[in-house]
Amino acid sequence: MQVPFIDLRYQHESILSDIYQRFDEIFYTSDFVLGAELSAFEEEFRRYIGARFAIGVASGTDALLLTLRALGVGQNDQVVVPAFSFIACADVVIRLGAKPILVDVNPATYAIDPEKLSHSLSARTKAIILVHLYGQSAPIDPILDVAKSYKVPVIEDVAQSCGTMYAGRRIGSFGLAGCFSFYPTKNLGAAGDGGLVITNDEKLAERIRKRRDHGRAQDQLYDEIGYNSRLDCLQAAILRLKLRDLDEMNLERLENARYYKKLLAGLDITIPEVPEDGSHTFNIYTIQTSRRDELREFLTQKGIGTAVYYPVPLHLQPCLRFLGYKEGDFPMSEHLSNSVLSLPIYPGLKRQQIEYVAECIREFFKGK
Ligand SMILES: Cc1ncc(COP(=O)(O)O)c(C=O)c1O
Repeated sequence: MQVPFIDLRYQHESILSDIYQRFDEIFYTSDFVLGAELSAFEEEFRRYIGARFAIGVASGTDALLLTLRALGVGQNDQVVVPAFSFIACADVVIRLGAKPILVDVNPATYAIDPEKLSHSLSARTKAIILVHLYGQSAPIDPILDVAKSYKVPVIEDVAQSCGTMYAGRRIGSFGLAGCFSFYPTKNLGAAGDGGLVITNDEKLAERIRKRRDHGRAQDQLYDEIGYNSRLDCLQAAILRLKLRDLDEMNLERLENARYYKKLLAGLDITIPEVPEDGSHTFNIYTIQTSRRDELREFLTQKGIGTAVYYPVPLHLQPCLRFLGYKEGDFPMSEHLSNSVLSLPIYPGLKRQQIEYVAECIREFFKGK
């Protein structure tokens, strides 16, 4: 049996004709950029998250970049970033001339460890990027508590966790801003790149909205240097249609995780908790094992696709070497980089496929 790591077709099957129909209408009006379809999506998404403002941008990376820029992050500033995350969390900080201050993560939540956070804050800290990794909500309150006591804003990176709940609300609006990615494999994925910033802060929203469009104050008049970073209307049309199914798709991910949990019980691996409260939406289903590379190779031979997010923690990435960190600085992040393995989890994954994956994992551990 073949089990690809990702298969997006199922998510699109039932909406494909609706997508083409919306495309027909948009092509007819040629309203491609900053048009009605984008405004409609921003309104629907802001309601879905439960926040006042939504600004569609070109990618999740740009959502982070524009938010930090709108906060005035620049030369000599510092921004706290988890050492175990996607490269974008650090590269946006560097592109603004500031320095990412890395912090180790908690291996159970994959989020910044609140206990370690306060040691990394200084008078130069302009923001904390709180990443909700794999679909799991970070423990927001303890982090907000530390941030508040130092008066530092928290930017939530919700790229992997669209729709996830915390304390009965969808994450993304707990911090000053929430940055979403609509990269195709995300819980809410476009047919290309896309991103969005959620905030309740009107001034921040205004600054981001202006700077996503070159800093335009009015037609042909620009009062600051901005970017060309707009979520286009074709992507917005797809996202509107997919947003309707998002909770159902997330539930399927949760059910798949539940099934894995049942089938993988008792093995010498760490499997993710499957909470009842929606605080995990399993964009990525990640186990931990000290025999990660061997297991991955075994599963590949069995026709099962897997992935490793992330095999190299940020402080050991070649492009960040100049920051001066060294091996041993963030033990948990290094440990995770050597032990995490992600299994197929997408909506549309069949029960027999999950059973086959679990069977092969059992066979691997039985053999040695
Ligand atoms: C945690 C995290 N942050 C930021 C991003 C950047 O999003 P994008 O690829 O849309 O630029 C990603 C995307 O993979 C991500 O996983």
